[in-house]
Amino acid sequence: MRYKSQSVAYWYFALALILFGLQIVFGLLSATKYLGPDPLLNIMPFDVTKTIHTNLLIVWLLTGFMGATYWMVSDESRSEIYSVKLAYIQLGLWAVMGVSAVVGYFFRYGTGNKFLEQPLPHKIVIVIVMLMFLYNVAMTIKRSGRFTTTEGVLLLGLGSSAVLYLPALLHYENYIVSIYYRWWTIHLWVEGVWEMIQAAFLAYLLIRLSGADREVMEKWLYVIVGLVFIAGILGTAHHYYWIGVPTYWLPLGGFFSALEPLALLGMAMYAYSAMRRSGVKHPNNLALHWTLGSAIFGLFGAGLLGLAHTFPDINKWTHGTLITAMHGHAAFYGAYAMIVLAMISYAMPSMTRTPHERGTSVGYWAFWLQISGMFGMTLSFATAGIGQVYLERVLGIGYLDVQLKIQIHFVMLVACGSLFATGVGLFIYDFFRHIPGSRTSDAATGAPFAASPATSTRVG
Ligand code: HEM
Ligand code: HEM
Ligand SMILES: [Fe+2]
Repeated sequence: MRYKSQSVAYWYFALALILFGLQIVFGLLSATKYLGPDPLLNIMPFDVTKTIHTNLLIVWLLTGFMGATYWMVSDESRSEIYSVKLAYIQLGLWAVMGVSAVVGYFFRYGTGNKFLEQPLPHKIVIVIVMLMFLYNVAMTIKRSGRFTTTEGVLLLGLGSSAVLYLPALLHYENYIVSIYYRWWTIHLWVEGVWEMIQAAFLAYLLIRLSGADREVMEKWLYVIVGLVFIAGILGTAHHYYWIGVPTYWLPLGGFFSALEPLALLGMAMYAYSAMRRSGVKHPNNLALHWTLGSAIFGLFGAGLLGLAHTFPDINKWTHGTLITAMHGHAAFYGAYAMIVLAMISYAMPSMTRTPHERGTSVGYWAFWLQISGMFGMTLSFATAGIGQVYLERVLGIGYLDVQLKIQIHFVMLVACGSLFATGVGLFIYDFFRHIPGSRTSDAATGAPFAASPATSTRVG
């Protein structure tokens, strides 16, 4: 850690990981409800546990993005954070918002609009927090006078995420109109501006971890941003097929969304080529695992499994089935969860009193258990989804009868989910077992602490 104020990132990461743990609890709860008698039916039925599961996902990922941004901007701009106090107030407000929203969902206090269930007061707090955050980051950069392309792409992604949240603040009487604008937020987040955030973190990590040439990385970033704009914006139409809008959206959605995997392919390619041509070998091999893992799993989950159901001819069968859940899990995990875990793994060693640059064996177990667990979960959703589409949509068997026939896949989902949850538990344990404490490196020479192999030891 070069700058003392970077330690604010630790508390963002800590909150993100606690919420990640809770998200998994609610995922397992949702999955077990598919399997039979539900003793919790009257306290928290499926719709409540699923809402909490997906909302915690969004909140922990954004918490991770914010912490990682404070860390990265300080490092890139070679400056302390403009206001540490503001960063902590922001975190406090954010935590209260997130926790009270979850409590509210138990009492059905929410809008019922998938992913955007937050009630209006919470949405207003989200906007305030985003403004505080963007102001603090912008002022840090302005005061330092150093602004890199990587930071520019990150800020473009974060700033646009805030702007795209605005349609979610309004209430629409007409259901079609409501769904239409929902995708401006949800689709343009995950298949648009969040990809810029992922690409910026990827570039930063690859420059630091593999010694990749900054100029080359930044050229790639321009390509990714261009591809995201070309494909992602009109690609939104792959959610408009069946909602009651004019039919010209069908070919538009099919064509442009089929181009979307190119940006993800680009990211995987630049990660791979950075690795191949890497000069300096950084000791933090575990962070490199997460970094490359994010590029590759993102390409698989979002690119390949997204493409699998994006054409109208296929989507008319698979829409809203477990095929969607198959893709949603692999995509969110690969592209966004893994990049946050990569930033945490990179920053962590220098935020604690015990040096563990190479990654601990617990850390590697956490990585491989999560990867294999998530892969198994993706397969479980896929097999369940294929069965569901065939029985329900092709043969016309009723929804509940079909659910009974595909239960075995949910047994597999719970088994693989438990493997995944063990990996998450180990990651969280590995994070919290090290006592936080700042060990700033020599800011004068600019040598980042984490890049110094001399101080690295492997503990485990
Ligand atoms: C990291 C990037 C991505 C993430 C996190 C992601 C996540 C998701 C999620 C969570 C859903 C369900 C949304 C809902 O029903 O509310 C969804 C739907 C969908 N995604 Fe993605 N996605 C990504 C990229 C892609 C790409 C690149 C494509 C196409 C090539 C794609 C194609 C689709 C389609 C067609 C649907 C609608 C499924 C349906 O009709 O039920 N996604 N995605
Ligand atoms: C032990 C781990 C997990 C289990 C057992 C689990 C289980 C589930 C279940 C049963 C659903 C409801 C599917 C439906 O509507 O029928 C769901 C939804 C969802 N989960 Fe998970 N989940 C887990 C972890 C995760 C992780 C790590 C992520 C992302 C990084 C994630 C993202 C999502 C998303 C985006 C949805 C909404 C999908 C949609 O409606 O299309 N889950 N999960
Ligand atoms: Fe989409």
